[in-house]
Amino acid sequence: MDLIALNIWLDNIFVVLYMLVLLFLVVHFVAGILKGRFRMKFLEHKWPEHDHSVPVLPKTLHATHMTSMVILGATGMYIRFPYFYGGRTTMRYIHYTFMIIVCVILVWRIWYAFYSKARDWREFAVTRKDLNSALGVLAYYGYFSNKKPHVAKYNVMQKLSYQLFLVMMVLMAITGFSLVTKDFIFGYSPRDLIVGWWLGAMVGSVDLAGWYARILHYILNWGFIIMTTVHVYLSATEDVPCTLDFFGIKKMEIKGGHGHDEEAHEPARPEPPSPEPVLGS
Ligand code: HEM
Ligand code: HEM
Repeated sequence: MDLIALNIWLDNIFVVLYMLVLLFLVVHFVAGILKGRFRMKFLEHKWPEHDHSVPVLPKTLHATHMTSMVILGATGMYIRFPYFYGGRTTMRYIHYTFMIIVCVILVWRIWYAFYSKARDWREFAVTRKDLNSALGVLAYYGYFSNKKPHVAKYNVMQKLSYQLFLVMMVLMAITGFSLVTKDFIFGYSPRDLIVGWWLGAMVGSVDLAGWYARILHYILNWGFIIMTTVHVYLSATEDVPCTLDFFGIKKMEIKGGHGHDEEAHEPARPEPPSPEPVLGS
């Protein structure tokens, strides 16, 4: 298959896939109404109890990261499908600016997670307890059960998707820099240095290697669009007080009082027996 046909296939496949994802989320939302979860949360305000709040720095990094990703997505899509006339140079410069910002934020977040005083990488590590809770978490999201296991600050699906976000971000940066063809590094371009010398040798030309990197960058772009849509849907439906707190809009009430230090992966206290369906956080 030639590259043009491959690119057209990718456009079609991802548009259809995205529609299916949206449809799935609509069905999931309607099921939430039918199962009474919507009423319980949005009308009776029975949200999960919270035993942690995220510190200010990761919140700020996330907000900057989120804004940069939205801008990168919009400008990247414009580079591929110029959806209004005359913005090519500007949109490229915006993409180039935010790609630097997002990389700085990424490095900063990784530093915070592993090397800062408040390092929180353990909150994202999948433990045996998390794995044991996976079926329960899936059953909760699939409406087979109203009880969500609470074994850590983030549930196993959150942890896995945050880890996937990280891997995708790194791949996005590598494939993205492989598209820069200006030779400003001792006469070489980032494309020469990242893919040119090995992939270029394998496929026959540096240009072609750049095209493969572009295709991967584009596939990842859709990966982000899909994952971020699901992430936003869950943020908007699962635990709104937590989301409002996370964006600094309204402080949520912290009950139970345990923080999220390294070992604190147990719920603050045993959940009281309740006649209502119980929602873990
Ligand atoms: C992480 C750092 C990133 C870097 C270094 C980067 C770099 C680049 C570069 C150099 C281009 C080519 C621009 C041109 O042709 O002049 C590009 C295109 C593009 N970028 Fe990025 N980018 C990054 C992140 C993102 C993100 C997060 C998204 C989407 C969520 C994205 C979506 C796109 C798309 C859709 C294109 C057009 C691809 C095509 O023409 O097929 N980029 N990017
Ligand atoms: C576009 C709108 C977005 C919204 C509304 C949103 C919302 C949220 C919320 C509410 C949380 C807190 C979850 C909790 O504490 O229980 C969160 C955490 C997180 N989100 Fe997002 N998010 C967005 C975009 C993104 C994007 C684009 C990425 C990655 C590429 C991302 C990655 C993460 C990660 C890694 C966390 C874990 C907490 C942390 O970073 O400190 N989010 N998000």
